[in-house]
Amino acid sequence: MLDASPPRKKLVEVKNLKMYFPIHTGLLRRHTGDVKAVDDISFDIYEGETLGLVGESGCGKSTAGRALIRLYELTSGSVTIDGVDIATLSAEQLRLKRPTMQMVFQDPQASLNPRMTVSAIIGEPLDEHTTLTKAEKLARIYELMDAVGLNRNFANRYPHAFSGGQRQRIGIARALALNPKFIVCDEPIAALDVSIQAQVVNLLEDLQEKFGLTYLFISHDLSMVRHIADRVAVMYLGQIMELSARDALYADPLHPYAKALLSAVPEPDPAKAARARIILQGDVPSPANPPKGCNFCTRCPQVIPVCREVQPALTEVAPGRFVACHLVQPTALTAGPTGGTEAKEHNQQGATR
Ligand SMILES: Nc1ncnc2c1ncn2[C@@H]1O[C@H](COP(=O)(O)OP(=O)(O)OP(=O)(O)O)[C@@H](O)[C@H]1O
Ligand SMILES: [Mg+2]
Repeated sequence: MLDASPPRKKLVEVKNLKMYFPIHTGLLRRHTGDVKAVDDISFDIYEGETLGLVGESGCGKSTAGRALIRLYELTSGSVTIDGVDIATLSAEQLRLKRPTMQMVFQDPQASLNPRMTVSAIIGEPLDEHTTLTKAEKLARIYELMDAVGLNRNFANRYPHAFSGGQRQRIGIARALALNPKFIVCDEPIAALDVSIQAQVVNLLEDLQEKFGLTYLFISHDLSMVRHIADRVAVMYLGQIMELSARDALYADPLHPYAKALLSAVPEPDPAKAARARIILQGDVPSPANPPKGCNFCTRCPQVIPVCREVQPALTEVAPGRFVACHLVQPTALTAGPTGGTEAKEHNQQGATR
């Protein structure tokens, strides 16, 4: 976990990132629209921290995570990792940068090749990116298996011989093979038994401390995010609605969508009264046809006319708290952890669409 004291180095800087998937229709497969899976998001991730990314299914979390390490070609915007804008790298430059940024996937069953042994799976990135001898490679594979708590004697077994939690450990060892700095964890525990989830989360925390890793932790599980994240970004329909420090967000969410989402989280402290559950009406609009104005205006319990016209920009409304809502105005900002003294706009939204 991150020590809250500044100064902190920004490892990942995301600016105005858009990731659209084109829609082609008709016999001629004409480009008739786009699924705006990620629609202009901007934020930073500090070195050594865990940024949680939460939001309903389909809001663009996985797309954002993949775009951040350029598993997709970005529609527009920039992603700077450790000083390098990865959006503009050539294929070869990207290959050289790849070791520093890795991903742990949700479903270890699907992401591991069933025909490869554990040692081949963990060793594959070493073959691709290093010139280690056979003996050095095996030593490194054993070292990685130790780091994630896998028995070395099982190096020649195939993934099917392992339990779900062990398979996720194989995936984590593989992601660690090249000493990455930044790891996108996309629902890394969602496919695991509840009894195993905490073990894998503890492992991720231990590895973070040991190797100084920085995580983007994508999850549906708001209680788990509360446990692991230093700061949390709340996404809705391709955009960030709120980004705040974990404790501030869970104690007092500011954006109406964040309030609704977090009202479903059980309060761990029985001394505090449980929050009233906010049930949102209506369905999430299609990301191919988002509403005019604020993306949340069709479901927001506090909607006012301006919300249907003007898209609110993600703005620092209190030190370290970024909110995109017309109803949440900046309070007098004092120098806080971000050093901000006045409201800062985090991106160039705010125009009518
Ligand atoms: N390759 C693709 N082509 C077209 N549309 C896509 C593609 N990948 C994702 N989408 C769409 O983009 C939107 C965001 O999807 P994404 O998988 O990023 O959401 P998510 O927040 O990760 O959801 P979940 O919580 O269910 O994993 C969805 O509407 C999805 O259908
Ligand atoms: Mg997803």
